[in-house]
Amino acid sequence: MSQSEPTLEVAASAAVAKIASISTIEALETLRVSWLGKQGRITDSMKKLGKIAPDQRKAEGARINAAKQQLIRSIGEQRAKIEAAALQQRLDSERVDVTLPGRGESVGTQHPLTKTLERIVDIFGRLGYVAASGPEIEDDWHNFEALNFPPDHPARAMHDTFYFPDGRLLRTHTSPVQIRAMIGQKPPLRVVAAGRVYRSDSDQTHSPMFHQVEGFVVGEDISFADLKGTLAEFVKAFFERDVEMRFRPSFFPFTEPSAEVDIRWGDRWLEVLGCGMVHPNVLRNCEIDPERYTGFAFGMGVERLAMLRYEVSDLRSFFDNDWRFLGQFG
Ligand code: FA5
Ligand code: MG
Repeated sequence: MSQSEPTLEVAASAAVAKIASISTIEALETLRVSWLGKQGRITDSMKKLGKIAPDQRKAEGARINAAKQQLIRSIGEQRAKIEAAALQQRLDSERVDVTLPGRGESVGTQHPLTKTLERIVDIFGRLGYVAASGPEIEDDWHNFEALNFPPDHPARAMHDTFYFPDGRLLRTHTSPVQIRAMIGQKPPLRVVAAGRVYRSDSDQTHSPMFHQVEGFVVGEDISFADLKGTLAEFVKAFFERDVEMRFRPSFFPFTEPSAEVDIRWGDRWLEVLGCGMVHPNVLRNCEIDPERYTGFAFGMGVERLAMLRYEVSDLRSFFDNDWRFLGQFG
């Protein structure tokens, strides 16, 4: 017995010295178990007490207990140090430097097509046009038939229509709103209608979904000269600069005579709208007397007008949603 007494104390002192250099909770726990665990050295020495002569037992017990208390204390102190160091490290790394400048907010902007569409509608609003609208899912009658496209008329093929299985369709132009607005109303009428239209079409100047603004005026003595004057005024107000513009004779089943308007685009012409005098059959389909009333109508391409106003060379960039592009219109 006398041999083991100094051994335990020496070993315990060595362990206490080692504890001071331990830097992780895991390593500290391993050491704790090797001394104080169920099979640890202290526990083991306690178990052996019973074999010691009764007169020495008390002194030996006190010795073991002293070593045990010393180990418990230094393990506890070291644990507190490790935890404090970990906390300090976290506080250092997560510190918020309130003196740094803020990141700044980026403010969103309206889409250039929205701006263009609102600009167009606003110009006609100031000329006394009243806003109207119609559904994007249309029936054949409003989109074609009432607009004087007979069934199987070749002009239908110009529209590359998207059909639903039940025969309804995605409107190919805003002209069906003419029908919806004229039915049940009496002239004089001055109406503007903006919205999405759809055609199976895609290239630099065509998109499968695009926007049109429809406008029409019905009354007594409305002439082609009124149409020309209105569109010339519109182009001036819209571009706020001199643009070269030309009327080119064209064909639409729902207008007679018909024209298209082109705007100079570099060394080419870009078509921006179709127009004409409302066909008598269309007035009749809406129960308006063509002997008494005449009217003009036009349908403009919003993307085309935006291309020209903002000098964008490919209409499809309006639909890419690239913030580097869209951010320029703020
Ligand atoms: C029409 O859609 C007629 N409804 C316009 C009209 C209204 C004529 C009233 C007479 C009276 P058009 O198919 O040409 O016509 O289209 C009108 C305009 O829409 C074009 O001039 C062009 O600016 C634009 N446009 C046509 N197709 C596309 C497309 N795929 N992508 C973008 N813009 C288009
Ligand atoms: Mg056209």
